[in-house]
Amino acid sequence: MSNSRTPLIPESQTSLVAASAAESSAPSVPEEDSAGEATAGPEERFDVTVDQATFEKLGPWQQCYGNLFRVRARTREADAWIVNDPADVRRVLISNHKNYSKGIGFERVALMLGNGIIVSDGDRWKSQRRMIQPAFHKQVIEQLSVTMTRCNDSVIERWCRAADEGRTIDLTRDTSELALEVILRSLFSEDVDRLIETHGGNPFSLLVEDLTRDLALAARFRGLTRHVRAILASRQEENRMPADWLSMLLAARNKDTGDAMTEQALLDEVMTIIVAGHETTAGTMNWTWHLLAANPHAEAQLHAEVDTLDHAPEFNDLDSLSYARQVAEETLRLYPPVWLFSRKALGDDVLSGQTIPAGADIFLSPWLMQRDAAHWRDATRFRPERYADLEASELKRTAWYPFSLGSRRCIGEFFSMVEMQLHLGRTARKLRLCKASERTIDVEPLVNLRSAVPILMNPVRR
Ligand code: HEM
Repeated sequence: MSNSRTPLIPESQTSLVAASAAESSAPSVPEEDSAGEATAGPEERFDVTVDQATFEKLGPWQQCYGNLFRVRARTREADAWIVNDPADVRRVLISNHKNYSKGIGFERVALMLGNGIIVSDGDRWKSQRRMIQPAFHKQVIEQLSVTMTRCNDSVIERWCRAADEGRTIDLTRDTSELALEVILRSLFSEDVDRLIETHGGNPFSLLVEDLTRDLALAARFRGLTRHVRAILASRQEENRMPADWLSMLLAARNKDTGDAMTEQALLDEVMTIIVAGHETTAGTMNWTWHLLAANPHAEAQLHAEVDTLDHAPEFNDLDSLSYARQVAEETLRLYPPVWLFSRKALGDDVLSGQTIPAGADIFLSPWLMQRDAAHWRDATRFRPERYADLEASELKRTAWYPFSLGSRRCIGEFFSMVEMQLHLGRTARKLRLCKASERTIDVEPLVNLRSAVPILMNPVRR
């Protein structure tokens, strides 16, 4: 990353990376807040955000102050509240969600995505979500699964060649390319090849090539809307309506007014789907193979499951791939791509008996809850089979929320679970991915929880 770039996360916050978590975790005397209630939280002033410093502090703070604590703002107007009790999280996201809008960080996401549904609130969000929802229905995903299998097969073919030639693969890059291709082909189908032909390459690959997620990248990414405009124009000119998400979004109508989306709204939603669906799924596939390579017992169970089929798994086989699904779910527990997200309290609320004042910044961390030994037995161990027993499947409803909960729950959850199951199932029938080095892989906790370095693997034919 060039130093002249303006980061999406201000330098003032990233420079806190070196701050010691232990130093900051000394318990403070509870102080009285404006509502006269005792509030636990660290002494120091600190702006919570998606960065390494916050990531290092959250765990020790939770140990000291429990599942609800306040972090006094350093530069912001409002203090932050970390909410980690399952009942409180459900109140914020489900039963009292109307009291919360999107919070800190989303203004920067908006620079990249405009006013798409991940950013918008209120009536705008509601009408857009209603118009987009049909594109994520099961029958549509079933059709798109053909695209998924095709994209997967070309990656598997490359990995098989690497296996035959004894070459190492860059799993992180390959899964990133794969997830991007699946999203682009789901949106634009035949126009992806036209785009590549016209430009001598895929302009959207910048999401794979450039790993920064700063303002310069946001601007470059926004610039790609011209390609979506060009696709829209050529479809109109040639009167084409291929079976893909773009055609569905174009045909969508507001139920009350009968209006289509404006072109700007359509572009914002397209860009939102690309970004929201790419790195999250790519990261999960990346971590999954990393975990499988370190857990031969789970890998063997996955092989046993895919070997019960006499063909490479397709959409209709997914019910028989319950272990593959559990592998993905367990990866999402240990490495939730969206490890921290925020809300803003619009009015006062009461969580765990404490008053949360209007204006408070709320932070929710699937990472913290999903690794909490208070909920999960062998919390840090990769045990996909845990979901087969009743206790953990109940926990999945209360202490597992990688896709969030409630009305703002991820619209792409089913799509990405299908994509990951097919990827795992089809790959595992042919290949094992073995660690190419014993190096520890750290996490990089920014907007998404990526691996800090590319994960390298040696594919081996089964
Ligand atoms: C492993 C994969 C994924 C994970 C872990 C994930 C996680 C999440 C989370 C936590 C949210 C809620 C954020 C918030 O409310 O602040 C969200 C929202 C969203 N996701 Fe995903 N996501 C994944 C895949 C996808 C895919 C594949 C797509 C699209 C194809 C997608 C599109 C969206 C959209 C549009 C929203 C906003 C929904 C709304 O506010 O109505 N996601 N996702």
